[in-house]
Amino acid sequence: MPSVFIKTYGCQMNERDSEAVAAQLVAKGYTLAKTEGIADVVLLNTCSVRDLAEQKAMNKMKNLAGTARKDNPNQILGYLGCMAQSRGKELIDKLPDVDLVLGTQKFHRAAEYLDELLSGKREKIVDVEAEAKSEATIREHLLNGSAKTSVSAFVSIMQGCNQYCTFCIVPYTRGEERSRTIDDIVAECRELVARGVREITLLGQIVTSFGKRDIPVIGRAGTDSNGGAHGVTRPTLQISPFVQLLDAVHAIDGLERIRFTSPHPKGYGDDLVEAYARLPKLCESAHIPLQSGSDRLLKLMHRGYTREKFLGIIQKLRAAKPGIGITTDIIVGFPGETEEDFELTLSLCREVQFDNAYIFKYSPRRDTPAADMPDQVPQEIREERNHRLLELVNGIAARKYDAFIGQQVQILVEGPSKKNKARYTGRTRCNRIVLFEGSTRHQGQLMDVNIERTGSFTLYGDPAILE
Ligand code: SAH
Ligand code: F3S
Repeated sequence: MPSVFIKTYGCQMNERDSEAVAAQLVAKGYTLAKTEGIADVVLLNTCSVRDLAEQKAMNKMKNLAGTARKDNPNQILGYLGCMAQSRGKELIDKLPDVDLVLGTQKFHRAAEYLDELLSGKREKIVDVEAEAKSEATIREHLLNGSAKTSVSAFVSIMQGCNQYCTFCIVPYTRGEERSRTIDDIVAECRELVARGVREITLLGQIVTSFGKRDIPVIGRAGTDSNGGAHGVTRPTLQISPFVQLLDAVHAIDGLERIRFTSPHPKGYGDDLVEAYARLPKLCESAHIPLQSGSDRLLKLMHRGYTREKFLGIIQKLRAAKPGIGITTDIIVGFPGETEEDFELTLSLCREVQFDNAYIFKYSPRRDTPAADMPDQVPQEIREERNHRLLELVNGIAARKYDAFIGQQVQILVEGPSKKNKARYTGRTRCNRIVLFEGSTRHQGQLMDVNIERTGSFTLYGDPAILE
């Protein structure tokens, strides 16, 4: 049977899509090649969020095509995912060695199309059509693929995004918001738990909008932060479909931890804040994309919240769950960003003290409104702001990491560290990586470790209980 090598660019959604394609191909008898050079099929699962990500995948494909022409003329080369979706046939016109271009709603057709290409039935295939119900097709898992995936799994709950932030290409590459049903998602989670998974991350481009069009909001009497009614009368909470899903997943016996990404700040209603306090399996960690600290820019970006609203959410979350790890995404150099706007972002970061922040230099994306906005910020100013903001957020992050020294934390052990096999790696509930001297018997365990020192975005620990 043929062998396949899949290289993934971009976000966790893409990682998950690649895993599902790999699982689909393995089920059809394919083997997973260790390197691209020996594979019969090489697939690049691409990202379009920034120009750099597209350039990387295109350069990689050029190199692959060059080697294939010399050493392995029958090798099948394909693009999957976001760039395949947004560029389509143009990718083959540019580089005729490419055989397959498969869009974001077509991952489940990979095996069928590769069969046709490998058997010579078809020479080139481009499929970037929209497909109804494709959101329910990212289901299969490769749990024996790596140690990490047997303990912790990602589950795609929805596809697409209707927010149309003016800088973002995702609504065009991933399409309209489409959600799976709660029953279908819970069934997948149950299967994973039965196979040994203990932590599940619910995935989507805007998970807090889950089920908005299909599942009604339900009213429920609020509880106090200890999870009991205790005779205190609370106003009725409107439980969004997303929180209904969290409740349903939380009820699965044997599951220890729940995470989700990416939410939108506007989705942090009182029901979600309350869920953090109420659901013990919901880890105290939140990635909440900010993008800018300036209201003027937030409006131009079409983000749908203000600086004050964002700060209010952080405050409520910290009150509901002290110690919650909060990370964010920020764009510098959005069109029209002035020094004053940028300073508002700096001051918000000082105020919030994010546990970590991912900073992106604005990259104009085709067909997005921001690409045509006036006052594009010169590259050197984008660089300079990137540098200043990184210095600030990294300083804050390092201090936050140092504050863990001497503390005991619970980790879920994922497996041996990639860099040093004698070390094992796990994550705290607030999503920090911890390295410790471990062995196979620790794998998949929830254990307490004492944090002894910190490295760059890493904690070093010692198991708290000596056996
Ligand atoms: N909600 C999505 C966002 C996808 S893009 C998710 O996380 O799945 C991830 C981040 O990339 C965004 O939060 C934003 O900070 C950044 N980004 C998106 N478009 C960008 C652009 N055109 N230029 C620079 N950064 C961008
Ligand atoms: Fe992109 Fe905004 Fe949706 S960043 S994924 S359009 S919430």
